[in-house]
Amino acid sequence: MDAHEYYEKMADEYDAKTTSGFDAEFMPNVVALFKKHNITEGAILDVMCGTGLLADNLGKNFSYTGIDLSGKMLVHAVSRGYTIHEGDALSILKKIPDNSFDHVLCIGGMLWIAEGMELWQHMLRIARKSITATPEAVTPIVKAMESLVPNTKLHDHSNLDYGKLTDDYMFSAWTNPKTGIRVQARMIFLQK
Ligand SMILES: C[S@@+](CC[C@H](N)C(=O)[O-])C[C@H]1O[C@@H](n2cnc3c(N)ncnc32)[C@H](O)[C@@H]1O
Repeated sequence: MDAHEYYEKMADEYDAKTTSGFDAEFMPNVVALFKKHNITEGAILDVMCGTGLLADNLGKNFSYTGIDLSGKMLVHAVSRGYTIHEGDALSILKKIPDNSFDHVLCIGGMLWIAEGMELWQHMLRIARKSITATPEAVTPIVKAMESLVPNTKLHDHSNLDYGKLTDDYMFSAWTNPKTGIRVQARMIFLQK
């Protein structure tokens, strides 16, 4: 099984699992960051958007365009009002012009991409106003999740030098359902 197959299979349960099973805290952290920086509107590019949970959390003052590998995840994003691009995030980002979205985010997705810095560089050039991402560390607890997706390697981009950032902190991100252990992740935010 690879990432595509994994998310195709869990697409219809993703929202419930994220909130209850994995007890994820990504969205409350993004909401808090946007509030802190008084970001209340604009065109969002949501890289590896999944089911589009971001729209439920940031609300209707934004427009949402999402990129994701899984068509079944994207069905849910469309129902939340997303314009979508289906396919590999990096391949699609390469075709998106400079300064074409206000806010570019990649939440809970960088683990799946080998080229973390290349992804960040594309986000930087595409965003007019802000960039938000969660480069997670592949600790032994996170690595244990690889057994669920045997044909995929998870990638650790938590120690890369992202240059000057507006916010950079660790937060309690999600629970490994097998061990019950809470996983920490890095949140990075740059306001241009
Ligand atoms: C943990 S989910 C995060 C979804 C959403 N950002 C959220 O916070 O709820 C990771 C998403 O990355 C997508 N994904 C994995 N590898 C990808 C790739 N190479 N290109 C685009 N999307 C990918 C999966 O299909 C999945 O929807």
